[in-house]
Amino acid sequence: MYPYLTGILQRAGKQVQLGGVVKENQVFDSAETSVFNWDYAVTNPRMRQLYERAKTAQWNTADLPWDTAVDLESNVFDIDPAWASSDWFRKMSRKEQARLSIAYNTNQISQFVHGEHGALLAAAQLVDAVPDIDSKLYAASQTFDEARHVEVFYRYARDKLGAMYDCTQNLFNLMQAITIESRWDFKFLGMQLIIEGLAIAAFANLLTRCNEPLFRSLMQLVLRDEARHVAFGVIALNDYYSRMNEAQRRERQEFVYEACVLMRGRLFSGEAYERMGVNPEQIKETMRQSDEVRDFRANLFSQIVPNMRKVGLLDGWLAERFAEMDVLHFKDYDADAVLESLILGQGIKREKSQAV
Ligand SMILES: [Fe+2]
Ligand SMILES: [Fe+2]
Repeated sequence: MYPYLTGILQRAGKQVQLGGVVKENQVFDSAETSVFNWDYAVTNPRMRQLYERAKTAQWNTADLPWDTAVDLESNVFDIDPAWASSDWFRKMSRKEQARLSIAYNTNQISQFVHGEHGALLAAAQLVDAVPDIDSKLYAASQTFDEARHVEVFYRYARDKLGAMYDCTQNLFNLMQAITIESRWDFKFLGMQLIIEGLAIAAFANLLTRCNEPLFRSLMQLVLRDEARHVAFGVIALNDYYSRMNEAQRRERQEFVYEACVLMRGRLFSGEAYERMGVNPEQIKETMRQSDEVRDFRANLFSQIVPNMRKVGLLDGWLAERFAEMDVLHFKDYDADAVLESLILGQGIKREKSQAV
């Protein structure tokens, strides 16, 4: 089903599993490329500017108002209208409904913690592997950003929501492939553009539905950092693929496509509901009609598709696959403007979302 990603894992001697969760700690070797580059002068001014911005935009988790009371029986997150109108949800008591909503959103926030953990490892690897000093300095600043993201989401889940869910196998598969793969540009594609794109889509989704001020303010701080991380990927890969032959570009396109398919359903897996005590079959139809799922997918592809165009991979084979997925129309979408409005706390404008 995912031949390219599976190949990366199998070549490293990994058994590939789909579905389920990862409970044990994972220790494995990865073939890392290390580059010492003695040219310390600025060779990429845009990158150096991003690094300057990163240094002045640092913030501390401890400074957030952690004494804010979060009442789990109140309306912390808006209920998906597709849930609210479904029979299975209406049969529940108010208390059960609130508990399910919290469990569902805690699962998402737990996956953020795990995704940030993967981003932390990938950013650290990039410090080693990127060829120029401007990118190394920037990657070091991102490594620290991701450390803070792990910390802030975990603290919210533990202290305010009172639970953490295990990492899904599908998310781990992609993070593991990115970690194992030694070619640095695959780490950028997988982590900076696909998983970061996914994170931004999921953060946007949650931010527009969250009524709780502590979570809203931490999410806006995280999003500001993530906007820089995506810019890092786009600047680093600028022109890189124009020098490659068709076979090399095709490998990247296959990797991107499979990562997109894997991530498209990541937050809405049947297992997530099963763990919350809801029969996944029962909820399938509800999710098919859900605005929230539709908005998430629109947000996801409105980040990924324009960024693939900017790095020069959106043609031929990949353009055909995206057309089949009915997401190619996002190619000229202004992803930066969406991010900007989120950071300012204005949320996503619904009319911009299209069915995906
Ligand atoms: Fe992050
Ligand atoms: Fe990030």
